[in-house]
Amino acid sequence: MFSTGGGGGPLKEEEEKVPVFVDGREVHVHKGVTVLQACEHAGVHVPRFCYHPRLSIAGNCRMCLVEVEKSPKPGAMMEL
Ligand code: FES
Repeated sequence: MFSTGGGGGPLKEEEEKVPVFVDGREVHVHKGVTVLQACEHAGVHVPRFCYHPRLSIAGNCRMCLVEVEKSPKPGAMMEL
């Protein structure tokens, strides 16, 4: 948690942004977003079949598998 320094009080966790790398390009996304959302923010389209933003995450089709650095195996990006 950090402060805005302008008297506005501390930012909520959702408002904090963290740097991530998508295909080697740095983008800043809100803390807690999925890899899928980070890729969308970076303008990288990843095919998906069972994902819908208004439904709970099923992770059944495995179409959206991606490699994540320091992760032992590929994972469904909507679950990461
Ligand atoms: S879209 Fe089906 S597992 Fe991600």
